[in-house]
Amino acid sequence: MASWQAATDDAGQPGVGQIVIGDGSEDDFAEIVALDERVTGLSRPEFWHEFRLQKATSNALIVLVARHAGEIVGYATGEVRTWPVRGSACGWVYAIGVAKEHRLKRAGSALMAEMISRFRASGIGTIRTMIDVDDHLLMSFLRSMGMTAGPFVELEMPIA
Ligand SMILES: CC(C)(COP(=O)(O)OP(=O)(O)OC[C@H]1O[C@@H](n2cnc3c(N)ncnc32)[C@H](O)[C@@H]1OP(=O)(O)O)[C@@H](O)C(=O)NCCC(=O)NCCS
Repeated sequence: MASWQAATDDAGQPGVGQIVIGDGSEDDFAEIVALDERVTGLSRPEFWHEFRLQKATSNALIVLVARHAGEIVGYATGEVRTWPVRGSACGWVYAIGVAKEHRLKRAGSALMAEMISRFRASGIGTIRTMIDVDDHLLMSFLRSMGMTAGPFVELEMPIA
């Protein structure tokens, strides 16, 4: 079985072991933002504020959470988008994170599998993401899911 194929828990829900994957709701945002801060070591309230505003007006944004005994221990966000790069619509994975104490138990894989299954249900044939070039942990994880380098490269320059 490919690593991105959906796993289910004993009750047949998306998940793995005692971790259940489902949609994150508006009520979950504070918990997701707090977990994101613990996972990244960064406080990014503007990012989450903008994300929340978009989520309120768009059905396209996907917010998944991984719960263990009711507590949110992982999250993944993504969207089907036709931009910013040329080509047909693809599924963008914006963020994925699992609490340190719950890692290496396939919660991240289960979140990705469910995200991919949502994208495939929308008729999408490709997924994309961007990561820091020296983020070896995320690179190892995404490679384990089967992701490889894509056809685009990000360019930038300071203009201040
Ligand atoms: C990357 C991350 C989501 C993985 O979650 P996880 O639940 O531990 O991952 P899984 O248990 O599903 O691991 C699947 C595979 O990923 C790879 N992997 C995961 N953690 C790894 C590690 N520490 N070192 C090397 N490979 C690793 C392995 O190939 C693993 O398969 P294996 O156990 O058979 O070797 C988690 O480590 C994390 O949240 N890291 C921080 C990410 C981050 O900064 N996110 C915010 C911005 S996007």
